[in-house]
Amino acid sequence: MKIIGINASPRKKANTQSLVEAVLGGASETGAETRLVNLRDLTINGCLGCEGCKKQLGKCVQKDELTTLLQEMAMYDAIVMGTPVYWYHVSAQFKMLVDRLYSFMEFGENPETGETEIRSVFPTGKKFLFLISRGDPEPARVFPHFYQYLDEWLNLIPLSLGAGSYEFFHQYGADIDRKSAQNDPELIDRARKAGIELASI
Ligand SMILES: Cc1cc2nc3c(=O)[nH]c(=O)nc-3n(C[C@H](O)[C@H](O)[C@H](O)COP(=O)(O)O)c2cc1C
Repeated sequence: MKIIGINASPRKKANTQSLVEAVLGGASETGAETRLVNLRDLTINGCLGCEGCKKQLGKCVQKDELTTLLQEMAMYDAIVMGTPVYWYHVSAQFKMLVDRLYSFMEFGENPETGETEIRSVFPTGKKFLFLISRGDPEPARVFPHFYQYLDEWLNLIPLSLGAGSYEFFHQYGADIDRKSAQNDPELIDRARKAGIELASI
């Protein structure tokens, strides 16, 4: 089993990275081959909306390190995607990655129903695990519906890519302390066990 872990926090060795590393650590205990990618280390751009990918589906026309990563993601059995919550949503780095996944998709008409549907050329059946680190505790003190919306929105990613399965793993109450996850052995152990589970067939 080959697993890629993508950390979309701009903060080095902070909560999201600790969670991604714990998951990958658990997975590697079972013999899985793992790789950590910190998006902050890559030169990446947002989607240009040029629709160039629709002429050659599955290939973004941009020549940055995100185009390479998108191609590489398609070769893994499982994908771990970690993001801090920023303004009740994902980080800018995470959103750039998600927008660029558009390169695998096209819109077509269902010949039977006539309804518009999304088709994806991303290899199907992969396992996804989403790690979401947030400052607010659970339940949230204010605007809890925005967090509910965020989880609903995140569902779009595996559903659009034809995932075999997907799970969410949350860190609540991290505040702004970058070592909050690292200093919580129970949380790290749960993340490690989620990695073992992810790596199991
Ligand atoms: C720009 C910014 C916006 C944030 N917005 C939220 C938010 O809406 N809700 C929340 O719970 N935490 C918010 N936080 C706190 C982070 O989600 C939290 O500190 C998280 O653990 C950061 O992950 P990291 O340590 O991996 O960078 C925000 C932090 C920053 C820097």
